[in-house]
Amino acid sequence: MRIFALCLALVLQAWPAVARPLYLDAKSPVEARVQDLLSRMTLEEKIGQMTQLNYSAINSTGKEDAVDVDEKKLRAVIRNFHVGSFLNGFAVPPAQWADYYATLQRINLEESRLKIPIVYGIDHVHGTNYITGGTVFPQNLNMAATFNDSLAAAEGRITALESADLGHAWDFAPILDVGINPYWSRLYETFGEEPLVGARMGAAFIRALQDAPEIAPYRVAGTAKHFIGYSNPSSGHDRTPAQIPDQFLQEFWVPAFRAAIEAGVKTVMINSGEVNGVPVHTSRRLLVELLRDQLGFTGVAVTDWEDILKLVNHHRVAADEREATRLAVDAGIDMAMTPFTTDFCVHLKSLVREGAISPARIDESVARILRLKFDLGLFEHPYPRTNRFPRIGAADHRMAALQAARESIVLLENRGALPLSDQAQAILVIGPAAESKRNVNGGWTLGWMGRPEPEYPHSMPTVREALKRAFPHASVRSASNPSADEMRAADVIVAAMGEEPYAEGPGNIDDLSLPWQQHALLRAAADSGRPVVLVLFEGRPRIVSGISDRMAAVVFAGLPGFEGPTAVAEVLSGKVNPSGRLPFSYPRTVGHVVPFHHKPSDKSGAQYPFGSGLSYTKFEYSGLSLSAERLRPSAEITATVTVKNAGRVAGQESVLWYLTDEVGRVTRPVRRLGHYEKITLQPGQSTQVKFRIVPREALAYPDERGRKVLEPGAFTLRVGNQAARFFLDGE
Ligand code: GLC
Repeated sequence: MRIFALCLALVLQAWPAVARPLYLDAKSPVEARVQDLLSRMTLEEKIGQMTQLNYSAINSTGKEDAVDVDEKKLRAVIRNFHVGSFLNGFAVPPAQWADYYATLQRINLEESRLKIPIVYGIDHVHGTNYITGGTVFPQNLNMAATFNDSLAAAEGRITALESADLGHAWDFAPILDVGINPYWSRLYETFGEEPLVGARMGAAFIRALQDAPEIAPYRVAGTAKHFIGYSNPSSGHDRTPAQIPDQFLQEFWVPAFRAAIEAGVKTVMINSGEVNGVPVHTSRRLLVELLRDQLGFTGVAVTDWEDILKLVNHHRVAADEREATRLAVDAGIDMAMTPFTTDFCVHLKSLVREGAISPARIDESVARILRLKFDLGLFEHPYPRTNRFPRIGAADHRMAALQAARESIVLLENRGALPLSDQAQAILVIGPAAESKRNVNGGWTLGWMGRPEPEYPHSMPTVREALKRAFPHASVRSASNPSADEMRAADVIVAAMGEEPYAEGPGNIDDLSLPWQQHALLRAAADSGRPVVLVLFEGRPRIVSGISDRMAAVVFAGLPGFEGPTAVAEVLSGKVNPSGRLPFSYPRTVGHVVPFHHKPSDKSGAQYPFGSGLSYTKFEYSGLSLSAERLRPSAEITATVTVKNAGRVAGQESVLWYLTDEVGRVTRPVRRLGHYEKITLQPGQSTQVKFRIVPREALAYPDERGRKVLEPGAFTLRVGNQAARFFLDGE
């Protein structure tokens, strides 16, 4: 009897190890867990992991209007197709997100034979814009205007802190497309024209998002999107053909994605468009040779919205969805955002069964997806946490968003009108953004194209309300259709102009002009003889050159987020000294659109060039010096400049260093931004700012295969009003 009891005790003691498969052992190496799980999966289960469905495919209405679970629908797609990922939604309270995700995961784990947790994707692209009460930052174009990477890092950390507990383990951010086409409806989602800004801010965001210690043991995956060449459609319309020579792609689109991959970004989302006649979703050259072989990306490549089907009905490179599925999987996609059906599963299974796609190719993608889920800790922590909701929208988070908004406001012209005198007794606010919270935020805010006004936070002031807070003793009124008398009665007119919210295709335009109604209103305001301060709330540079010279001041506010009206009012009142600089070239005319880094044979038509931005103080640059005038490719030199605050108020200054390669076999941009940093100076204070010039990083350019080209010759360095030449010798 004793022997039996002993044997039973030994078996029971060993039981967990015997019954508990290796992949469920958190102490085992991830690679071993991946291979163990892979070896247990059926083909159908593997294909299910490569499938991502929209929330509307499993909610109660079948439309994008309810963040809830229809249990019958969900059980069906898990039981029959083993779907491993879901996405999207819109702003609902944290408790609802947590409950929704817990239900989703519970049912999934009940139905999943191998207990593989789902991973949920969400577009938190400027803060936690899809959580009611979440902290909403300025859009990326504004973030770029701050030239302050620490603000992008703060956004990444706060996004993780506010969303990780709710099951939002996969954030479809940051957008790393280079913003050189001001017609494009997604310009406001980019970090602007200069690849260096997207590279540095994107990497700062990714590191802070993915490595946020305060959310342990939860983790959030970032997404470098949209790989690659999405942002320069020839017509300016979203998802239309782009012609981008390989060398141009390497020099302007690759840097931000390379920086993201070096920062450890866990996923990439693929560009829906076509480049040089080839839809990116079918391009092995881009998805394997460039993304994997050249850039060394090892994470998950997810398609964008319904992009396999679009190969049939949009790009017409496949006769049917089965062929489209073969093309896309063969090109290297890992997961299909289908997003409404499971047809992808049926097609892919038949392709494998008939030998058109190899089992090894399936295993390659599924291994990446499982690795992502293990990395995120989803097997150990599949359920949401509900004991840290106070983090969401916390005061310090909102302060970070306010600081980003403050530093993103760009003062473009000032004919002595700003800061507004505190003697101003009658301020009239006009224009479509005067009383609109929607217009201050743009797309991807509470909903894809924004939401109805009442859904925006009560705590968020409108522009008029913010001005009233900044000028408590003044009369601050708004008028949607002001009479000439009303305008003449004002001490100053603040014209809050710009654009309505839009996203992607619905945001396509054919004319960058500011809408004629707004032009007419500005003319009438100028005709009143009262000073007019034009404030532009817009996702792209609408042309104002025909009226700007009649304005007392011109401010680019972009899309500054929930704290934007407060930030604008603080700048107009002088409480904040503006420090924003344009991260793009603001065109003077509709027809002449040229980026700041154009080629020598071209010329810029910008009304406000890249880097424009005034301050209420005066910064003086002097004493630019180089540690050497000549250097070998293996050496480096350091440039030093003195910056002084020669004015009467403290201010922040973005010190922008530009480099010009004077002669190059591939025509060289007239200048590129080589380095930037932001400093704060008190009145009368000076400081020295340095730029360490390492030839292979700052002076080389890529050839069409991404190989660095370093040519000897003369370079010119510019910073502020200073310039210096130096010479690079041959090897
Ligand atoms: C959209 C966008 C992409 C977004 C995805 C999921 O079409 O192109 O940026 O992440 O679908 O919403």
